Amino acid sequence: MKLLVTGGAGYIGSIVTRMLLDAGHRVVVLDDLRTGHSVALAPEAEFVQGRVHDAAEVITPEAGFDGVLHFAALIQAGESMIKPELYWQNNTVGSLALLDAVRAAKVPRLVFSSTAAVYGNPTELPIRETAVTAPTNTYGSTKLAVDLALTSEAVAHGLAAVSLRYFNVAGAYLAGSVALGERHAPETHLIPIALDVVAGRREKLQIFGDDYPTSDGTCVRDYIHVADLARAHLLALTAARPGEHRVFNLGSGSGFTNRQVADVVREVTGHPLPVEVAPRREGDPAALVASADLARTELGWTPEKPTLHDMVTDAWAFYRDQILERS
Ligand SMILES: NC(=O)c1ccc[n+]([C@@H]2O[C@H](COP(=O)([O-])OP(=O)(O)OC[C@H]3O[C@@H](n4cnc5c(N)ncnc54)[C@H](O)[C@@H]3O)[C@@H](O)[C@H]2O)c1
Repeated sequence: MKLLVTGGAGYIGSIVTRMLLDAGHRVVVLDDLRTGHSVALAPEAEFVQGRVHDAAEVITPEAGFDGVLHFAALIQAGESMIKPELYWQNNTVGSLALLDAVRAAKVPRLVFSSTAAVYGNPTELPIRETAVTAPTNTYGSTKLAVDLALTSEAVAHGLAAVSLRYFNVAGAYLAGSVALGERHAPETHLIPIALDVVAGRREKLQIFGDDYPTSDGTCVRDYIHVADLARAHLLALTAARPGEHRVFNLGSGSGFTNRQVADVVREVTGHPLPVEVAPRREGDPAALVASADLARTELGWTPEKPTLHDMVTDAWAFYRDQILERS
C-alpha cells in the first residue's frame, strides 16, 4: 500500500514507519518536527516537513494514497491543562483538516492513535472499549473528539477507520543497525525519567502519591512494548472495514505500580534509583489497566514482549547507546 504516516518523526510513528517499510509498503511521512527528530526518519520513506493542517497539499487525489496512519499530536496531559487552546488547535483542528483531505482524495482507510486518557477515571477494571469515556484532561478530550469525528466520518462517508487506544507505551525498537526509541522533551514518562536518574541526569525519581488503594500505595499503570504496539497498526490496516469505525484498546492486561517499575529499572540497569514520594497529582487515577481481549480476538494480535523486564531492557539499551553515548 501507499501510506501517509503523520508524526513519523516521533517515537511511535517512526517505529511503525520502519515496520511498514520492512513489510513492503511505500511510506510518506508528514511531520512538522515540533517534537519529532529528523534522526528518527526512515531514509527509504519520503519526508514532507509540514503540519497536518496542510495535509491536503500532500493527500491530493492524484497521489493515490491507500491509507493514513495518524500519530501527529501534542501528548502532554499536564501542559494540555495550562494551554488547552494549543491542544484543541493542534490535535483536534489538525485532525479535522486531515479528515477533509482524506475525504476529498477518497483515501479508503485511516488508523488513529487514540489513548487510554479518553476513559478518565474508570469505574471498572480492566477497561474495555465499551467503558464510559470521560477524560479528566484536555489532552484526552482532544483525542476523544477525534474518535467521535471518525465514527461520523465512517458512517456518513464510508471511511474504514480504526482507533487504537494505547495505554503506557515503553521500550525501543532495536534491529540490526536500526535503533528507535523515546526522545520526548520534556520527558513525562516514568521509565525514561527513571533512566535519566540512573544515568545521573536527574537527582531522583518522583512518585506522585503513595496512599492510593493499590498493593503498595502507588499508582498502577499498564505498559505495552512499542514493538508490539507497532505491529498492531499493521494488523489494524488490514482489519479496517469501509463504513465502520473500530476501536481497540492496546495494553498488556496487567498493571504495575510505580514502585514495581522502579524495582525493575534497578534490576535491569544494576544502578541505584533514589525515589521521592511527592503529593498526588490532580486527576491521576489510582489504576489504569486495559482489557486487550478485543485486539487479540478481532485483530489476531499477540504481544511478543509482554514483560516489563523486556520493555526496560530495550529502553535502557536505546538510552545507553543512542542518548548517553551520543551526547
Ligand atoms: N507515548 C505514549 O505513551 C502514548 C500513549 C497514548 C497515546 N499516544 C499517542 O501516540 C501518538 C504518538 O505519540 P509519541 O509518543 O510518538 O509522540 P511524539 O511527540 O514522539 O511524536 C509526535 C510527532 O507528531 C509530530 N506533530 C505533532 N503535531 C503535529 C502537527 N500539527 N503537524 C505535523 N506533525 C506534528 C511531532 O513533531 C512528532 O514527531 C500521539 O498521537 C499520542 O497522543 C502516545
